[in-house]
Amino acid sequence: MCGIVGYIGARQAASIVLNGLRQLEYRGYDSAGMAVLGSDGSLQIRREVGKLGNLAQLLAEAPVEGAVAVGHTRWATHGPPSQRNAHPHRSPDGRIVVVQNGIVENFAELRSRLQGQGYTFHSDTDTEVIVHLVHRYYHNGCDGDLAAAVRKTLADLKGPSAIVVLSEDYPDQLIAARLGNAGGVAIGLGEDETFIASDIPALLQHTRQVVFLETRQMAIITRQGATYFDLEGQPLHKTTTTIDWDPQAAEKGEFAHYMQKEIFEQGRSLTDTLRGRLDFVNQRVVLDSLNLSAAKLQEIDKVTIVACGTSYYAGLVGKYLIERLARLPVEVDYASEFRYRSPIVSPRHLVLAITQSGETVDTLAALEEARKGGAFTATIVNAIGSQAARICDGVIYMQAGPEIGVASTKAFTASVTDLFLLAFYLGQERGILNEAERTELLQAVATLPGLAGTLLEDAWQSNFYQQLAEQFHGFHNFLYLGRGINYAIAREGALKLKEISYIHAEGYPAGEMKHGPIALIDEKMPTVVIAPRDSVYDKMVSQVEQVKARRGAVLAVAHADDEYIRQKADVVMPIPKIHELLTPILAVMPLQILAYEMAVRRGTDVDQPRNLAKSVTVE
Ligand code: AGP
Repeated sequence: MCGIVGYIGARQAASIVLNGLRQLEYRGYDSAGMAVLGSDGSLQIRREVGKLGNLAQLLAEAPVEGAVAVGHTRWATHGPPSQRNAHPHRSPDGRIVVVQNGIVENFAELRSRLQGQGYTFHSDTDTEVIVHLVHRYYHNGCDGDLAAAVRKTLADLKGPSAIVVLSEDYPDQLIAARLGNAGGVAIGLGEDETFIASDIPALLQHTRQVVFLETRQMAIITRQGATYFDLEGQPLHKTTTTIDWDPQAAEKGEFAHYMQKEIFEQGRSLTDTLRGRLDFVNQRVVLDSLNLSAAKLQEIDKVTIVACGTSYYAGLVGKYLIERLARLPVEVDYASEFRYRSPIVSPRHLVLAITQSGETVDTLAALEEARKGGAFTATIVNAIGSQAARICDGVIYMQAGPEIGVASTKAFTASVTDLFLLAFYLGQERGILNEAERTELLQAVATLPGLAGTLLEDAWQSNFYQQLAEQFHGFHNFLYLGRGINYAIAREGALKLKEISYIHAEGYPAGEMKHGPIALIDEKMPTVVIAPRDSVYDKMVSQVEQVKARRGAVLAVAHADDEYIRQKADVVMPIPKIHELLTPILAVMPLQILAYEMAVRRGTDVDQPRNLAKSVTVE
């Protein structure tokens, strides 16, 4: 969950690392720190609790010069956020520093072993055992060979870890290593300068040439590039990936928050998601990167979707789409549940992981379970070259561009769009969809970016959502109801509200209302209903009546020209008409804007809400 940045080159390293950390602050933001190898050859450390701005201020007051540095932004696992627990952590002689992303699961045992060898601990973190182990092996057993000491250290660690090591004795190198699914380690190759980062937004300003470390791999990084080894010390040849993301895509620009930018760019991001995938000549969807041969496809008799959070809700929409268009049974599971319940997996299954980051530890572990069972694995993923993309048999990129706001928005609509394409593709390849159906669906999906753009432009031009939030931001509880394909949108809308505004919200299938939640309804509990004119419209209207009969306020997502709903509900958040199977993608947008405006009015930290991190790389 933490963010790591390293630099070795000729420029001032502190500002480069600080800027890189700014791009990664979404990964963790309770404290930050940096070690710079000064021009006198000594390691200078600056650490500060709180947001990165505090570290920036400390560096402004006490600058450090030098062309090699490593920095870290933390999301606390072991030990509360404090200066002493902030990374980097150093060896007793102060000559070696380590930053880490991950968890040392056997840290208590290692800590007491090291204490028995005379080591004193100055923090509550698990990371400190790593730097002491490196120090120990460096002086005992590795004869001053830093890379060997790092290798031996990693052999002692249980649990996932990504680390970067810097030593005064090796002023011309950084060592990066990865063990397990601890989040990415990307090495950016420049001209006489080399970068390390947990995620590529931190590299984009400098280079697009990137090498990713896999688990049990390490790199010795110099100004001229990097050499790669496995953890047994055997050299590795690694391929370089060219990243085609635009550096500006990771900037906030004129917007107040990344989340706001990411909501309002969904017209464009959906265009990117669809680009090159709709073949109107043959009335087909093109998904070559799925790598599913015709023979394999004929074998598949079940799809299991695994994901977490917002990606899980996209999966719920996916179930609806795949069952409807491809007539394949679909199970959707929280990755954190799937991985521990001894799931039944067979080579006849397609296990599909949905993940924006491609790094979520539970989702990666679920994929491992699927592979063990011999399933065909595929991922709908946003982060290019991420672990999920690398380990799956097939990949469908979201093509949403970097998503920085912790609350996922454009990645959700991109994943649902990808799921629509996948459902269509499976239906087409299995011969389920006839030509007329394919024509109708292709024409409908082609209108999606334009309709999304109009919805968002209208919202941007008016102050409708600001006024709505002004009216409702003082409420403490909200109920979200949806049905059919939009049930998942009720869940996602409620998640958006709670994670950034800290208002309690529950998403519920509307048909379940009478089985319990209706007891909650009164004038203090507004209900958000998703009620486009679809196959369950009448049922949703009667839901509105039932809430109104109990003095509850109703905020309806409905078609702009739906006068009937307008009369019944207190407020209508309008969406344009589109094919029913695509309504979730438009229906979620008003709920994203509503959550955003509510959070702004409540004065929360929209892009970095408390206790959350963008990539959940620890359990
Ligand atoms: C979304 O708003 C959340 N911050 C969170 O639920 C997220 O969707 C979840 O952690 C899964 O992340 P992933 O898509 O990167 O795997």
